[in-house]
Amino acid sequence: MSDKYIDHAPDIVRAIVIDPDIDTHVRGEASPARKYDDSRLEEAVGLALALDLEIVGEMSVRVRKINPATLFGQGKVADIKTACEANDASLCVVNGALTPIQQRNLEKELGVKVVDRTGLILEIFGRRARTNEGKLQVELARLEYERSRLVRTWTHLERQRATGTTGGPGETQIELDRRMIADKIKQLKTELEDVRRTRALHRNQRKKVPYPIVALVGYTNAGKSTLFNNLTKSEVFAKDLLFATLDTTLRSLKLPNGRSAILSDTVGFISDLPHELVAAFRATLEEVEQADLILHVRDVSNPETEAQKADVEQVMAHILPDLDRSRMIEVWNKIDLLDAESKDILYSRAITDRSKNKPLLVSAVTGEGVPHLLREVAFLVDADGEEIDIVIEPHQGEFLAFLYAHGRVLGRHEDEDGRVHLRVKLSDQAYGRYEKMVEGR
Ligand code: GTP
Repeated sequence: MSDKYIDHAPDIVRAIVIDPDIDTHVRGEASPARKYDDSRLEEAVGLALALDLEIVGEMSVRVRKINPATLFGQGKVADIKTACEANDASLCVVNGALTPIQQRNLEKELGVKVVDRTGLILEIFGRRARTNEGKLQVELARLEYERSRLVRTWTHLERQRATGTTGGPGETQIELDRRMIADKIKQLKTELEDVRRTRALHRNQRKKVPYPIVALVGYTNAGKSTLFNNLTKSEVFAKDLLFATLDTTLRSLKLPNGRSAILSDTVGFISDLPHELVAAFRATLEEVEQADLILHVRDVSNPETEAQKADVEQVMAHILPDLDRSRMIEVWNKIDLLDAESKDILYSRAITDRSKNKPLLVSAVTGEGVPHLLREVAFLVDADGEEIDIVIEPHQGEFLAFLYAHGRVLGRHEDEDGRVHLRVKLSDQAYGRYEKMVEGR
């Protein structure tokens, strides 16, 4: 056996990452390319690393004219093949969407397994999903992706390799797969329904808990889990990997004014989210819709921070179009990574920011800015509003719970019929929600 085959562990997949740099006019985009090529490639490498792949090569490959058979032109395909061979890669990650045919042809020509961006993200989501529902959603998304192309996703790589077929399954196999996939999709949908029912039940129970909910959202790797840990001093899975969280995690948060809140950590956002995963996203973001305050965590040390912010806002607007923006506040994280000058600039930008909720600067790692953030959160969830008197019937316990959770109760007494008379301070927004709740009964 030659040395080439023993210089790396056999179970580590050696991968090469290719970012197709498609000319804007070919793409048919009116707007200029959103990201610099380097950072797009960097992001793709980050995604691949999140799968514990060994990255043995990375390159941006220009696409002047899309080749329907292989996406890249023949010369470029030959270059990629040379790079794969030279680096002994067994997987080629293409950071873009490939048609099933392109994927199949590339596999044949390169002689290695090929995975596109959607396949890669699906695999990552699959590994990161922690709750039952998250796992089911990702599995469903993966099957729908497979059904649309009838090539097996990368999860099956090992099995395919074992049988020596890298070029995709034959016709009979495809028929069998098609039937199997359809059955499995049906079964998963039923299971998901059950899990959703249970989750809705839990959410309703939680609504009765008298605490405001504060949700963290942000681009993947922005530092949500780290901040979540710092604020709640609990340990959740935080690693320098993308997508450390797919499912929402909840913990109680002690505020400096003595009140408590529930802090909810959500899935990391990503640009060009595969449409197969939008439903999975929507479900995890339902928690955000319920939140009294949303902290948009941003990695301000990342040169792409503005583009990432735009991505997060775009996805939020798409998935939660009715979300009240005044409930959102930006948290500019990772300030410990900035030099003194950049930090000064950001502080003055935050101070002069004219939006209602000024951005807050923190470092989730060193804790700088965290006490101030907590004070602001306490202030915002305790927001000023109207003082109103409300009478609650004995059987309307959930209204009472809502008012305690979302307002400040200033006075309370019960009459002989068991009715509760409350004097409560409620923000306009909480009052609106209260009214809706009453109407909905
Ligand atoms: P997803 O779950 O992928 O959405 O990521 P996330 O937003 O939860 O990010 P996470 O908390 O996992 O942090 C990503 C990386 O950034 C980790 O290596 C953290 O240690 C690091 N990190 C987070 N906050 C800070 C910070 O304030 N300063 C520095 N230097 N690193 C940070």
